[in-house]
Amino acid sequence: MKPTTASLDRLRTLPRAEVHVHLEGCFEAEMLAQWAGRFGEPLPRPLERLFEFEGLADFLHFLDWACGLVRTREELAESAYGFSQRLAASGTGHADLIFNPTHWRHWHGRLPAMVDALDAGFRAAEQDGLPPVGLCVSLLRTQSADAAAELVDELVRQRHPRVVALSIDGNEAAAGRTGPRFAEAFRRAGAAGLKRTVHAGESSGPEGVRDAIELLGADRIDHGVRAVEDPAVVRLLVDRQIPLGICPSSNLTLGVCASMDEHPIERLRLAGVPVSVNTDDPALLGTSLEREYALCAEAFGWSDTVLREVARTSIDASFANEDVKASLRASLARW
Ligand code: ADE
Ligand code: ZN
Repeated sequence: MKPTTASLDRLRTLPRAEVHVHLEGCFEAEMLAQWAGRFGEPLPRPLERLFEFEGLADFLHFLDWACGLVRTREELAESAYGFSQRLAASGTGHADLIFNPTHWRHWHGRLPAMVDALDAGFRAAEQDGLPPVGLCVSLLRTQSADAAAELVDELVRQRHPRVVALSIDGNEAAAGRTGPRFAEAFRRAGAAGLKRTVHAGESSGPEGVRDAIELLGADRIDHGVRAVEDPAVVRLLVDRQIPLGICPSSNLTLGVCASMDEHPIERLRLAGVPVSVNTDDPALLGTSLEREYALCAEAFGWSDTVLREVARTSIDASFANEDVKASLRASLARW
């Protein structure tokens, strides 16, 4: 299904936040080809097929290659600025942006310098009137407990105001059950005042969502769609009103769901789970936030009332400061 230009234009005006999007997924193919060419690095496949992926493992491997092309502070700051431009082009009022230091090989061991470089890009963007961004610094599911402790030590030491949360992403199917391994790191991050957002229920089943809540203290869950397979986990999400940051196209492309018609977002929403709509990795998946809303509106016949409800959830679920949230809620009330 291809959303109409009119529906995309209208949805771009819907005041909302994006709470599940990765910096690693925001590089355009032409930009990657240009960066690779500069260093004589071959593309992993021809340009026109660069963004064809064979599931999550292949996708994560590609992120290592793409981020491995970024070497300088200026390039990182430009990536951050470019991300804010992408938000503005979609009419998005705020984003919590996940970035995972493990993918960026030229920056290993230099997290504070990375955060500073990204912050410079976001500050320049805000000065130019582009939307605000908070950073969620992410662990990879396949890392060790020691590596997780080291990352949290670094975040607590630097306590950079741009960093709003500890995140975890990557492949749970490859890592097995890792909630217990990361529990202490998440506990310490929470105690230090960081929010906690956890990829679960994408490459894990509902048990991964339960662990995210009970072991990692998740304030929010990225994906979480496979919670739908266990009514007790759905009840837990409803009782505690834990929001899911859902990314429909990502789930279709990476093989989590077979079609939009079967996508669990509507069943979860109707069950009372707070759901928001997001892009995950918009450039690599060839999507935008307004397109993700359009796909849901088309598949489930969402009225303006439902669109408003989901947009409101995105604002409430975000880690934006209270001024930004209040301003977005006021705009939404006028929509
Ligand atoms: N990193 C970037 N996109 C991801 C996804 N969909 N799942 C897990 N880790 C990711
Ligand atoms: Zn994700």
